[in-house]
Amino acid sequence: MKTRAAKSVRTSGYFVTFEGTEGAGKSTLIQLLEKRLTQAGFAVAVTREPGGTPVAEQIRKVILHQEMDPWTELFLYEAARAEHLTHSVLPALHAGKILLCDRFTDSTLAYQGQARGLPWKVIQTLNHTATRGLKPNLTVLLDIDPAKGLLRAKDPNRFEAEGVKFQTLVRKGFLKSRKEDPKRWMTVHAGKHSPEELADEVLARILKAAPAKNAVLRKVRSRG
Ligand code: TYD
Repeated sequence: MKTRAAKSVRTSGYFVTFEGTEGAGKSTLIQLLEKRLTQAGFAVAVTREPGGTPVAEQIRKVILHQEMDPWTELFLYEAARAEHLTHSVLPALHAGKILLCDRFTDSTLAYQGQARGLPWKVIQTLNHTATRGLKPNLTVLLDIDPAKGLLRAKDPNRFEAEGVKFQTLVRKGFLKSRKEDPKRWMTVHAGKHSPEELADEVLARILKAAPAKNAVLRKVRSRG
């Protein structure tokens, strides 16, 4: 019997994920990019993990505010991801959109792997299964000094409550994942530039890479 993970999916869209420790400013960057890409005529969708579909948003509520066994936490993130992939990520990418996703598989490696200490290789396997082998075309690491990030973080959840030591391990996890697949990543430095400057930097990279990847990326402005 063929398993779900046996074959990697192919899509016509362009998939960008945003990663970083708490308070780096991912949401602001994503909002700015959504606006600029839309102005440039692209069909854009924005989503997040955990979440992005009704079931995954329910799982998010369970994960973010209750203590639990680290393995339970891991499986809940992967369960939310499987749901998100089927009902949000793949439809957007099959429709040829540029999809901007706030956190994805690298967060699981950084938080549950590096910071919580669960085995890296097991998480890679679960990530692969939940995503059917789909990898982001580009992953933006919004890097910040973890202590500064925690000071900026709004809307605290239980991961922020773990403090600077935990966030420092999370950052180490992102750097490890980047080292394993450097071509997929671009790093921008949150503390040193304004959100607008950061958006310019990432926009330039997307505009350079996205159309080259696939000619069928959907342009909406030319219609009508
Ligand atoms: P959120 O409030 O969205 O945080 P942020 O704005 O920093 O993205 O909460 C998501 C939290 O879930 C965040 O603390 C990181 C954590 N997380 C994991 O631990 N593992 C994962 O696989 C994902 C996707 C997120």
